[in-house]
Amino acid sequence: MKHLAVLTSGGDAPGMNACLRAIVRSASNKKIIVYGVSNGFEGLIDDRFSELKPREVGNIIQRGGSIIQTSRSKRFLDRKYREQARDNLSKRGIDSLIVIGGEGSLKGAKCLGEEGKINVLGLPATIDRDLPLVGPTIGFDTAINTALQAIDRIRDTASTSNTVHIVEVMGRACGWISLFAGIGGGAEAVILPEFPTNLQKLVNQIKEQRSFGKQGCILIVSEGACNSAGGEGLIRDLNEVSNFDLRITKLGHIQRGGNPSAVDRVLASRLGAEAVDCFFLGHKQCVLAQPKDKITMIPFEELSGTLVSEMEDYYKLISKLV
Ligand code: F6P
Repeated sequence: MKHLAVLTSGGDAPGMNACLRAIVRSASNKKIIVYGVSNGFEGLIDDRFSELKPREVGNIIQRGGSIIQTSRSKRFLDRKYREQARDNLSKRGIDSLIVIGGEGSLKGAKCLGEEGKINVLGLPATIDRDLPLVGPTIGFDTAINTALQAIDRIRDTASTSNTVHIVEVMGRACGWISLFAGIGGGAEAVILPEFPTNLQKLVNQIKEQRSFGKQGCILIVSEGACNSAGGEGLIRDLNEVSNFDLRITKLGHIQRGGNPSAVDRVLASRLGAEAVDCFFLGHKQCVLAQPKDKITMIPFEELSGTLVSEMEDYYKLISKLV
């Protein structure tokens, strides 16, 4: 292998830059030339390649976002455009591609690998952590810490009033952010897409705690919960069964930006460097992850299961702590 390409895809995640840096530097040590593809799969289709040299990835380990941009590509779902992308790689003599991204992006990577000619490795990077088996994804830890900073502030004001504070966190189809932010932020409950919520029971629990003198109440809700209506949906539903004074804070894209945490920088650096080693040893068509501290190769097709069993213990923990 003399050349490889790398792209970032989907929602950006803090740590993507640290990962790019690790790929470029460790490839350079092996005399491999790395091309960065701008704007994810869109750039692969539109032939937007530029060489990334070791000095060009200096001073980015601490930066959020992605220096090569990212996108969600509808065109890449179409085989015709994947062929075009493959041709763009082939004409430069590139037969190896690293895709850094979340669930949808790794599906795209899988298709490209299956259709031949290109060796593909996926590195899980998404604040949502919406992939089974892989453990923490690049960006998740930073997003949780960002959410916790906001929740701690909300708790200060919540504990001096009698309002119920709803904090909506990201996660269109997945509640990992809610779970960790809920446990770490000492929330009274988390409402997420994977588990049903008994609202009447929740209302009774809050009333009971109030009768014992508890001040402040924080409920964390995933944007994809309450039939995809998130925090607004929870307000609507709570208003039907209670007369609580409700407030809502939507953390939104604040969670996606910012300097990556130490955990994300180290995870991203390990995965990036290991991906180069893997190609060198002839491994391909799989995802690299760190489910139990050790970097592990997981075939793309194993990433299609549900996350519920991995989440269960965390979900049960919430009710033990109120
Ligand atoms: O990156 C994942 C995610 O943050 C989801 O939690 C959220 O639903 C989505 O991205 C929103 O992203 P965008 O605004 O880029 O569509």
